Parts: sequence; C-alpha cells; structure tokens
Amino acid sequence: MFWFTLFLLQAAASPQIERGEALFFDSAKGCASCHAMKGRGTAVGPDLKGMGSLAPPAIAVAVRSTITSYVQHVKLKSKESFPAMPGAKDEKTIDLYDLSKTPAQMRKTDRTEIESMSNNDTWKHSDIAKKYTDEQMADIIAYVRYAVTGIPKSVDPSEVR
Ligand code: HEC
Repeated sequence: MFWFTLFLLQAAASPQIERGEALFFDSAKGCASCHAMKGRGTAVGPDLKGMGSLAPPAIAVAVRSTITSYVQHVKLKSKESFPAMPGAKDEKTIDLYDLSKTPAQMRKTDRTEIESMSNNDTWKHSDIAKKYTDEQMADIIAYVRYAVTGIPKSVDPSEVR
C-alpha cells in the first residue's frame, strides 16, 4: 500500500505543475534559459536543487530578490563593463556569463583582460520575476518544488506574493 501511494504521488503531476513546467522551459523567456533542471536548460545561474526543497514563500523571496550574491560587476581593461555570473575558471581564463545580453552570453575571458570584478548593483533578479503574475509564479514554484523533491503539492498565489 505504501509503495502504491508513493507511486501515485510520483505520478500525480497536477495541472498546476504542468503549467509551471511549461513556463519554466518557455523558449523565449523561461527560467531554463539560465537554470538547468533535470538535464534540460542552461546552467548560467545557480543550481536550484538547494532552493527547491525550501518552502514556497522562501523560494519566492529568492526569485524576487533585488540583491545578488554571485553576480559580479565586471570591468575590462578595454573599459567595457557588464554584469556577469562567473562560471568555470582555470589559471588563465574565466567563463563569464554576460547578463546584459538576452539570452546570457558566455564569454571565455582571459584573466589579464579584467580590470576589476566587484559587487553587482545593476542586474536584478527581481526584474525577471516582474514578468510573471502571482498565479504564474505559484505555478513555477510548484513545478520547481516538484522537480526537486517529487512533492506534487499545489502552491497558492497568496504564498508567493
Ligand atoms: C537571465 C538569467 C536568469 C533567468 C531568466 C532566471 N534566473 Fe534565476 N538566477 C540567475 C542568476 C544569475 C542567479 C544568481 C543571482 C545571485 O548572484 O545571487 C539566480 C538565482 C536564482 C535563485 C536563487 C538561487 C540561490 O541558490 O541563491 C532562484 C531560486 C532562481 N534564480 C529561480 C529562478 C526562476 C524560478 C526563474 C524563472 C522565473 C529564474 N530564476 C530565471 C539567473 C537567471
């Protein structure tokens, strides 16, 4: 009985979760243009495995955040500057995902070209969140939680305002 119940829970991706999945992977502006999930999407931003197991209000706070902890303001010696998510690096180069471009553009950058990298205060994740209604945000968060934990619970829009 236990295993059968578990099977039902796993199988029962609700209509809300399916809507959230479609929004997450939307090819034009979806979260998956910057976050990989279940082997799909592009890993520009952080892995959502840790966040996905938190309560929906906490996930919503992260998506609506106006401050960043990973994104850097990059200044090149050429005087060009842009907000970037740092990726893989070796002694000579660093992968910078340029967030001033849509979709974010990976630039393998020679470290000697970099003048400085400092705290970003121009690029805000909240600008992405603004494109969604509370209902859509609830759908997306229900999907993220389901994808990470397998919990098919619904999320009410009032939880993610
Ligand atoms: C343009 C790229 C981009 C898009 C689109 C995007 N994100 Fe992000 N996301 C990021 C980056 C970069 C960060 C790291 C921000 C920082 O420096 O703290 C991030 C951080 C997060 C975090 C916090 C993760 C952590 O561990 O701190 C969550 C949750 C999140 N995004 C969810 C989403 C969801 C849900 C969507 C779709 C509604 C989305 N993101 C769309 C780039 C993006």
